[in-house]
Amino acid sequence: MTTRSGPKQRLAGEPKHSAPPTPAPFAWIDDELSSLAREEMLREPSVRDGPQGATIRWNQRPMVNFGSNDYLGFAGELQPQLASGTRSGWGSGASPVICGRGTEQAQLEHELAEFEQTPAALLFSSGYAANVGVVTALAGRGDFIFSDAKNHASIIDGCRLSGASIVIYRHADMDDLQSKLSEQSLARRRLIVSDSLFSMDGDFAPLDSLAELAERFRAMLVIDEAHATGVFGESGRGLSEQFGIEASGLIRVGTLSKALGSIGGFVAGPESAIRWLAQRARPYFFSTAPPDPVAAAGRLALRRVREEPHRRQSLVVQATELREQLRSQGWHVGNSQSQIIPVFLGTPQRTMHAAAHLRQRGLFVPGIRPPSVPPGESLLRISLSYLHSSDDIARLRAGLESLRGSMG
Ligand SMILES: Cc1ncc(COP(=O)(O)O)c(C=O)c1O
Repeated sequence: MTTRSGPKQRLAGEPKHSAPPTPAPFAWIDDELSSLAREEMLREPSVRDGPQGATIRWNQRPMVNFGSNDYLGFAGELQPQLASGTRSGWGSGASPVICGRGTEQAQLEHELAEFEQTPAALLFSSGYAANVGVVTALAGRGDFIFSDAKNHASIIDGCRLSGASIVIYRHADMDDLQSKLSEQSLARRRLIVSDSLFSMDGDFAPLDSLAELAERFRAMLVIDEAHATGVFGESGRGLSEQFGIEASGLIRVGTLSKALGSIGGFVAGPESAIRWLAQRARPYFFSTAPPDPVAAAGRLALRRVREEPHRRQSLVVQATELREQLRSQGWHVGNSQSQIIPVFLGTPQRTMHAAAHLRQRGLFVPGIRPPSVPPGESLLRISLSYLHSSDDIARLRAGLESLRGSMG
């Protein structure tokens, strides 16, 4: 600063300028975390220890577990059998396109294709990676992706990364999809993508209509069977099998992390599509291959899905009964048709209060809030497993009954 009498003299020890002190670069995070806590939106890390089954130890307390996607109860059972199943050690060392694809991975991909009755299959390190990989490899700038409003975050992220134009159609609304498809009939390529079993609402996509629209508009169809693989369909291939649309040439995404009790995602479909993914799916190409012990666990799980159909059959019957019982208790369970049963409570506050109430009774049922669901649709998400006994389910019903009193 200058004055008419010349530059102002700074006294010894006086700061160079008097602007307010700049906050530390990461200080804003504390403000954001406090605001999440005030709104009941903060996720606190928890710890599960000990064996997995219908009951777990969660934050050092035993709980009947209605929070896991281990629908068939394999997650806690594959481990001891695995020790003798692999010879190559733990890490895979490289991307599958370099030298990371071990014999177990190659064999698992072969067995996945056999299981899915498709010409080929490709293993990814997770279902998330599989969805991002398949969507970005099939559509790009100049193309249109038609995506259900309730698709999983991994599909949404794949759509955003692809650079294609994204058209969101109303949840499971085939009239809306049809009119949006007809508006873009001149686009270079069209891709329709949908969960088959929606992960929060537990309802089904209308797969027969989706296949019909895809054929009529010459669109590629990708169906994510993450929560349906192993549970639905005569052979456990999911809802594409149950709806009888497998012959339509669709591409299917699945995961080994839910009913198959392991980890890793996969894409199954026509030979040329799978070869293309191996060239262009960046999460496949630019990430270290799943190690052999992981692939060996996936192979064991596939075998058990084939050999133990009673698990999925019993689960589907139990889930149908529980849904009806919750409806007759007066809970709003939406259009659930599956082992995923939401109890819609609306706000994060009501939902987290309900989850805490159930935990006090030894019942672990996660509260789901935005951004996992749209605002206003917070819910308790009940995941039923083959391992739950009728006593476990009776305790859940009693817990929910007592919750009604506490919520007014
Ligand atoms: C519908 C759906 N697709 C994909 C995924 C991702 O699968 P993974 O957990 O194997 O990454 C999930 C995970 O919750 C999901 O719900």
